[in-house]
Amino acid sequence: MLDLTSDLGQRAARALASLLGSPEGLPAEMAVVRAGKPEFGDLQINGCLPLAKQAKRPPRELATAVAQALEGHPALAKVEVAGPGFVNLHLRDEWVAAATARQLADGRLGLRDVGRGQRVVIDYSSPNVAKPMHIGHIRSTIVGSALHRVLAAVGYDVIADNHIGDWGTQFGKLIVAYRRWLDPAAYAADPVGELLRLYVKFVAEEKRERGEMVDAHAHAHEEEAEGEEEAQGPAPPILEEARRELVKLQAGDSENRALWRKFIADSRHAFQEIYDRLGVRFDYWLGESTYNDLLPTVVAELGRRGIARDSRGAQVAFFDEQGEVLPREREPVEEAKLPPFIVQKSDGGFNYATTDIATMSLRVGLLGASRILIVTDERQQLHFRQLFAVARRMGVTIALEHVWFGLMRMADGTIKTREGNVIHLRELLDEAERRATIAAGEHGPELSEAERREVGRVVGIGAVKYNDLSKDRQTLVTFTWDKALALQGNTAPYLQYAYARIRSILRKAAEGGEIVGAQTISLGTPVERELAKRLLGYPETVEQVARTCRPHVLCDYLFELAGAFSGFYADHPVLKAEPAVRASRLALTELVARVLRDGLRLLGIEVLDRM
Ligand code: ARG
Repeated sequence: MLDLTSDLGQRAARALASLLGSPEGLPAEMAVVRAGKPEFGDLQINGCLPLAKQAKRPPRELATAVAQALEGHPALAKVEVAGPGFVNLHLRDEWVAAATARQLADGRLGLRDVGRGQRVVIDYSSPNVAKPMHIGHIRSTIVGSALHRVLAAVGYDVIADNHIGDWGTQFGKLIVAYRRWLDPAAYAADPVGELLRLYVKFVAEEKRERGEMVDAHAHAHEEEAEGEEEAQGPAPPILEEARRELVKLQAGDSENRALWRKFIADSRHAFQEIYDRLGVRFDYWLGESTYNDLLPTVVAELGRRGIARDSRGAQVAFFDEQGEVLPREREPVEEAKLPPFIVQKSDGGFNYATTDIATMSLRVGLLGASRILIVTDERQQLHFRQLFAVARRMGVTIALEHVWFGLMRMADGTIKTREGNVIHLRELLDEAERRATIAAGEHGPELSEAERREVGRVVGIGAVKYNDLSKDRQTLVTFTWDKALALQGNTAPYLQYAYARIRSILRKAAEGGEIVGAQTISLGTPVERELAKRLLGYPETVEQVARTCRPHVLCDYLFELAGAFSGFYADHPVLKAEPAVRASRLALTELVARVLRDGLRLLGIEVLDRM
């Protein structure tokens, strides 16, 4: 379908070029889109209207020229000029049938290598060490890993980098808490759980000493939060102690270094367990600490280039009214579009911004990225706008995208790590599997215990993932078990059961000795034709996700495909149809199964042949 639409679009553009004499604004390829209504045919070209306005010619004249150029095209049964200047295209049934058969014969189901020769670095998950991965991090992991698979499927050379937070003020606090309150047995059993308890205890103690409530809002980053605390007056003794331990750690104190390494190793181990359950993998784990030795050079270089300047002892980049870095000659402006970006604090310390500038140079330079995607929650939008503006001024020209998502809530409020109000990801997954296993037993009483568990695992994990993927990532997600695990509606269990049902139809055919292959597909009814057209839309959908980083588009597509299949199956006998029709319908059924399985695979969701 994509090759056809670009062929038609190019022919249309050539026709317009010869009519209008290549005016400005004429694309090399006119957009050919899916028709809005069945009576408009299958495809439409709507671009004549704006072009006509520009060229001061009647739109229907342009549309007629396009229609004449496309008349007689082997894929088209009918070409019409409609309304004020639309061109409606009707595909020939034989073309749709042959294209569907080609898709079935193609191991990649029509996916093309649109990303060939391009390297994408994708930064996702990126949790903070010595704090458990909580439900707020799950969305980055799940959305990021789906994008990772989608990009690879359309031919990008993808490098996945887990930019873990393995450096920062939390380590001073943890070292203090570990020495004071460690429960060795608890640590042996669950190191990350114990580290969290210690961290929370530290925060509580600090709060007690301070004798007032800590700011109720969780901050994205410790440094900023601490800066504010400092400004409010003298720090409580325990915080002073944590700072001393942090300074020792930064200076290379061997005991503190050993503890720091231990916290990282144990946290990584716990993260890896989760990644294994989720089927997530990274090429690199270049955490924040990777860049420590580079940070003085980063700041020095920003100074030499006039990007950062001294401001009350700190090194700061300022921005202009358009959000570009302010040249050093210009005084900071009131109307700056972005707030100042601190790259070195007045106490000489480096921060999240400094590290991210170093990270950017490694990704552009050593890794040779042609596109960088960073997947985090919405609270970091400002940080990445500032970072990207600095990167532009440093000469970075590749695509830089902050793929942000809305914060996830459990039904009773946003998750915070500071207060210990966390839901461990592991517990969430365990609970999902437990509930799905019970449901599997109710749904299929004939399943053995082992099968029930396997269904529970696949459905439970699938439901959690799909819940995050199926909503536009920029909306807020509220997590409820009933919605995530529902068998009806746009959920993973619905699609997984739909897939298993289709496989059982195909099994029955196979028992009758039938082998489904790319035999000629014939589309006898409008419903079959509609189903075939939907199948042909798969590559376009995947390419759209790769372009826009919005996996919910693929979820919607699969949900509609499953619905179209059940509509087809409700009144089109497959196994009981006469042989030629039966072979064609089986081929369509097989193709639906393959597209569902492949689409879910790209989303990181497994399927089972029997449930
Ligand atoms: N560790 C950070 C957090 O949990 C996310 C890091 C995202 N990547 C980056 N290059 N800044 O908020």
